[in-house]
Amino acid sequence: MILHRKTRIMIPDVSEADGLLFDNDRSDRSETLMRLAVTIQTYKSAMKTVIGKLDLMDDELHYTSKYDLIHHMESRIKQPQSIYRKLKKYDLPLSLESARQNIFDIAGIRVVCNFVADIYTIEQKLLEDKDVKLLRRRDFIRQPKPNGYRSLHLVIEVPISLSGQQQLIPVEIQLRTIAMDYWATLEHMLRYKGTNGHVEEYTDMLIECADSLAETEKVMQFVRDQIEGE
Ligand code: GTP
Ligand code: MG
Repeated sequence: MILHRKTRIMIPDVSEADGLLFDNDRSDRSETLMRLAVTIQTYKSAMKTVIGKLDLMDDELHYTSKYDLIHHMESRIKQPQSIYRKLKKYDLPLSLESARQNIFDIAGIRVVCNFVADIYTIEQKLLEDKDVKLLRRRDFIRQPKPNGYRSLHLVIEVPISLSGQQQLIPVEIQLRTIAMDYWATLEHMLRYKGTNGHVEEYTDMLIECADSLAETEKVMQFVRDQIEGE
């Protein structure tokens, strides 16, 4: 199952974000907007290419061993406003070129699996692909964040051809289990609820939940391995 979060980036929307977008590129506004549209299209292609690879991987295993490696996938392209905010946050130059060089999650895919081992199987298979180059890896499963957040974050690069020119485009992939996704959804809800969020109030409870989910997953993985081994 692939869930695409619909991206509604259209040139009129972007021009409404006046004062927000790419200050340094203001000289020729229509040209900047055109370049933005082409860039977004390029990142969309990269995202679709990676989704295609993951989908094929899932199908292959399903047909050969009736095993579902991927429960579902979600994908999104970062909104121009969010790109702008991230550049500002890290005090980076406010231009399209700067976004392409410094922001690696313009194209993002979340892969949700049933079991922890599936995450590492997917990573291994993906990195065997000669078109895929690993740029960054952060394993918050082996080393969870202090708040309890777990997931494997990869940034990979894939080649995309556009108007006869090949470009290497980064795509961020978050791999997690259903349990990790369940936890992250609640934590995200608490963080963004109201003006200040409620996450501090529940810090200890969230850590406890993360630990007990991780323990439960270990037992589930053990049982699955027993069944698989039969
Ligand atoms: P961003 O500016 O958010 O992209 O941060 P980053 O580039 O430093 O990357 P990081 O790996 O910390 O986080 C990337 C994404 O992972 C976030 O946008 C969230 O979707 C997810 N994530 C990371 N940490 C947490 C967390 O503590 N809670 C939840 N719910 N999601 C998280
Ligand atoms: Mg991000």
